[in-house]
Amino acid sequence: MSLITEGYRSPARWLHWITAVLVLLMIPAGLIMVQQGLPRPLQDTLFIFHKNTGVILFLLIVLRLIYRWRHKPPPLPDDMPVWQSQAAGLTHLALYALLVLMPVSGYIRVRADHFPIEGLDALGMGTLMPKSEILAATAQAVHVICAFLLIAILALHIAAALQHALLRRDGIWSRMWPPNG
Ligand code: HEM
Repeated sequence: MSLITEGYRSPARWLHWITAVLVLLMIPAGLIMVQQGLPRPLQDTLFIFHKNTGVILFLLIVLRLIYRWRHKPPPLPDDMPVWQSQAAGLTHLALYALLVLMPVSGYIRVRADHFPIEGLDALGMGTLMPKSEILAATAQAVHVICAFLLIAILALHIAAALQHALLRRDGIWSRMWPPNG
């Protein structure tokens, strides 16, 4: 087994870990805030956190995609089975797609009902779309379906990463960790 040394560059690592932390906060916040019978102040706080952090995440994801497009990732080791590198490629593609779909559908779900997004409202940004119940309901359905797909694919991604870090110890984990590597 060849141990690889070439890892991702520092900006790619920071963007990865900041996105990871924020997504791992957004998912429980989203799941909890939609529960019935939650105390109103807690629900409001979670909604405000979720909507505004979601917008910040969207900007980070766009930045990440631009960076990824301009800097090819380091090559995988030659002796990695083809199915594994294909599975990794597909997983990463699905994660990028879902990380774009989640904030976009969340934004449309909120704005098509003309609900506030406090940070954007403070900047004077309008709702950017007409009030539409059908649009809001469609965006809500997309948001919920994509949330569960994201949770499933993230579970696979994290399991594979931990397997490389703890069992195989083949250098794949240190391509992305630590952030300042
Ligand atoms: C990567 C970014 C995001 C992630 C991972 C995420 C995740 C989630 C999750 C897991 C839920 C719970 C789904 C359910 O079981 O009902 C949820 C609900 C929700 N999210 Fe997000 N979200 C993101 C971005 C956003 C953004 C940017 C907004 C709005 C600006 C938003 C607004 C909402 C709203 C309003 C709900 C409640 C949906 C409903 O009406 O039932 N989300 N989100």
